[in-house]
Amino acid sequence: MSKNTYYITTPIYYPSNKLHIGNSYTTVAADALARFKRLTGYDVRFLTGTDEHGQKIQRSAAEAGKDPQDFVDEIVAWIKDLWSALDISYDDFIRTTEPRHKEAVAKIFDRLYQQGDIYRGRYEGWYCTPCESFWTARQAEDGNCPDCGRPVEKVAEEGYFFRMSKYAPRLLEHINANPDFIQPVSRKNEMINNFLQPGLEDLCVSRTTFDWGIPVPFDRKHVVYVWLDALSNYITALGYGSGDESLFQKYWPADVHLIGKDIVRFHTIYWPIFLMALGLPLPRKVFGHGWLILKEGKMSKSKGNVVDPMILIQRYGSDSVRYFLLREIPFGADGVFSNESMLQRINTDLANDLGNLLSRTVTMVERFFGGIVPAYKVEDNAYPSDRELRETALNTPSKMAEFMENLQLSSALEALWALVRRSNKYIDENTPWALAKKEEEKERLGTVLYNLCESLRFISVLLLPFMPRTPERIWLQLGIGSEVNLHTWESLQEWGQLKPGSRALRAEDLFPRLDLERELSFLSEKIGGKAIKEGVKERSTVEEKADKNVEQISIGEFARVDIRVAEILSAEPVPKTDKLLKLILHVGEEKRQVVAGIALHYSPEELIGKKVLFVSNLKPVKLRGLLSEGMILAATSPEGKVILTTVDGDIASGSKIS
Ligand code: ME8
Repeated sequence: MSKNTYYITTPIYYPSNKLHIGNSYTTVAADALARFKRLTGYDVRFLTGTDEHGQKIQRSAAEAGKDPQDFVDEIVAWIKDLWSALDISYDDFIRTTEPRHKEAVAKIFDRLYQQGDIYRGRYEGWYCTPCESFWTARQAEDGNCPDCGRPVEKVAEEGYFFRMSKYAPRLLEHINANPDFIQPVSRKNEMINNFLQPGLEDLCVSRTTFDWGIPVPFDRKHVVYVWLDALSNYITALGYGSGDESLFQKYWPADVHLIGKDIVRFHTIYWPIFLMALGLPLPRKVFGHGWLILKEGKMSKSKGNVVDPMILIQRYGSDSVRYFLLREIPFGADGVFSNESMLQRINTDLANDLGNLLSRTVTMVERFFGGIVPAYKVEDNAYPSDRELRETALNTPSKMAEFMENLQLSSALEALWALVRRSNKYIDENTPWALAKKEEEKERLGTVLYNLCESLRFISVLLLPFMPRTPERIWLQLGIGSEVNLHTWESLQEWGQLKPGSRALRAEDLFPRLDLERELSFLSEKIGGKAIKEGVKERSTVEEKADKNVEQISIGEFARVDIRVAEILSAEPVPKTDKLLKLILHVGEEKRQVVAGIALHYSPEELIGKKVLFVSNLKPVKLRGLLSEGMILAATSPEGKVILTTVDGDIASGSKIS
């Protein structure tokens, strides 16, 4: 049986500048939707590309002293690198300078002229070059573009015009009859009230004052207006107007054009009218999402406040950046980008909620069951939290599917995090470390840990569309890396697909907690466009220098430090701090209390039983009112991750290190 098809597009980007984090939002969102649809069994076609013609590009190239084609080639290569760094799974990347597109656009223009929808005239009015948009004197009455607010330029030139007015009533009818066509609804009302109701004017669809465009086939003084050229990409990429229209037959009409709110007018007025004139069906949905803005307002190259996505990806990984973008911007609305909000999301949702859930679970499977995922028993009456966890997991896929159907990506992630949080709560309710102390509770302990592993499997599969790299890392820790049948949407229909007996293996933390102060100072220095490589290089040279400058001491001085093996007997958080843990250590015959700043890196239960290195002759100090009698040793990675130094082999606590 053939699968249902799903055709999704992003806008094609102007390669006039490098893209910023705001532009990346559209493409990451489209990628998450495309991946979600693939996961749920659709035959997906996901298109993106670049919009390379027009006055704006020609001017930018001239300013850079470059030939326009060389100018765009360089930026397009950079854009492709960005999409690959963000794991964008597009099926096709169209460039409007490619012959397949140019030839088809020339044919479209010719056909519209032949059938009388395009006629020759003279244009006198206003033009906004950054938006590549025509305005009447009434619309731009203060001399500025109604869309972007920048000054418009007076244009008086010969041109070809498209009879927009002829199709306006049919378009209005279509919009009213198809409530899903323009989403969110607020954008639909704006289009009707501001543009369609007052009456559409015919649109100038050619330019003569510059030549960087597709020549009008029968009048080569003119180039095709860049929006008619650009919008056609959605069908030329499918082979429309070429010798092979099989993709076009299969995938058109598009299921969704995902775009930013600033270009809704072009996609819901001009584009459907061009399609009507060509006798083609209209896209099923045009979704205008909100913008990613800064606290102080819009991001713009001229203000120098754009956020370079490459810096963020290289420092925090593409999955973290994707998660932030998809979680932060609610359905259709604007979302505020700040370094703090991104770091908080990474630490709270990824390191604490998800990362700790996995590390606590796998650590306990290793400690209490030698790494073998235990068997489980269904005893809902005795343990209602089992049923709640299982039902939450089983209901999450359909909840997410419903949100995704309505393009509510951040709500879909919220629904997934409800399962993550439910699982963490399940640990607190069932206190597996306490069960582990009683032999008669071994079976119950097995069930609790099994349920956690299975819930993590659900979470990992549902994460695939949003954070494509993380699931693999979870599967490896759960011991199901090669069990591809457990990575599917279908495997979430039933609880208990994960086989007891799988070999779980603790690996490094999924998302090491970030040191906020350090990251904020890194970001405030880097954001604004410098290359990430500089950042990494600067940091490592500083560290290398520091290493070379370490002061030397004599063996006698070292011998004054009494380092011992100590076993951690208990660990508990220190109230009102999120960094400190109170530890009780066994050092030979003695017990010592130590306050250690490791709470962000270790949960109390995973510390119990560990043998660590301990400086026993430090002068005692009071921290938060608690006596700390010595210090445990730990290594800190360049990313700020703290790992305790433990001892290899069987050695009694109290043993001396020398
Ligand atoms: O408009 N937050 O290209 P473009 C979210 N070539 N989205 C943002 C944003 C922000 N801060 N800034 C920009 C064009 N965008 C045309 C499209 S389609 C046939 C032709 C979004 O490179 C913007 O809304 O100027 C748009 O959807 C996309 O980035 C591309 O913008």
